[in-house]
Amino acid sequence: MDIYLIGYMGSGKSTIGRLLADKMDRSFVDFDDFIEENEGMSIPKLFKTKGEIYFRKIEMKYLEELLLEKEGGRVIALGGGTPCYGNNMDRLQRAKVKTIYLNVSYKALARRLWDNNNNRPLVATIDTYEALEDYVRKHLFERSYFYNQAEIILKIGSESEEETINK
Ligand code: S3P
Repeated sequence: MDIYLIGYMGSGKSTIGRLLADKMDRSFVDFDDFIEENEGMSIPKLFKTKGEIYFRKIEMKYLEELLLEKEGGRVIALGGGTPCYGNNMDRLQRAKVKTIYLNVSYKALARRLWDNNNNRPLVATIDTYEALEDYVRKHLFERSYFYNQAEIILKIGSESEEETINK
């Protein structure tokens, strides 16, 4: 059964996903990379030239493609917004794949995104730390409704990546 990692931007989906795939001897798919390869364009450029609504449409289309593949032996890191649009969380549940929510506090997320937000169009233009933290707090609250529907919810605090993977 494929494992889908979901969670907010900066929650570690790609990093944990890669390590988990290694450990379980599975292949790894980074959904953002998958979209960029298929569209022949980076995500910031897609947002800039085609807009967020276009991005959400193709995000749903590519998720449907992945779910149809039913390969079963993969770890897939979705984009932060993927489960929150176009009934995608229902799609994941209907497909009976394993979903894991990497649940990181808004404060830790804001810190990580502040240190590295250049590739994320939704937060790239927020220019003070306080504004970023406020944005993440509200946005995470809205999105939690979807994230919390995951089959497994992993609360992530200060433990190492290795400990998270073992969990
Ligand atoms: C988004 C998260 C990004 C990427 C896009 C939109 C979001 O993925 O899909 O910038 O809406 O949260 P990461 O969560 O991998 O940064």
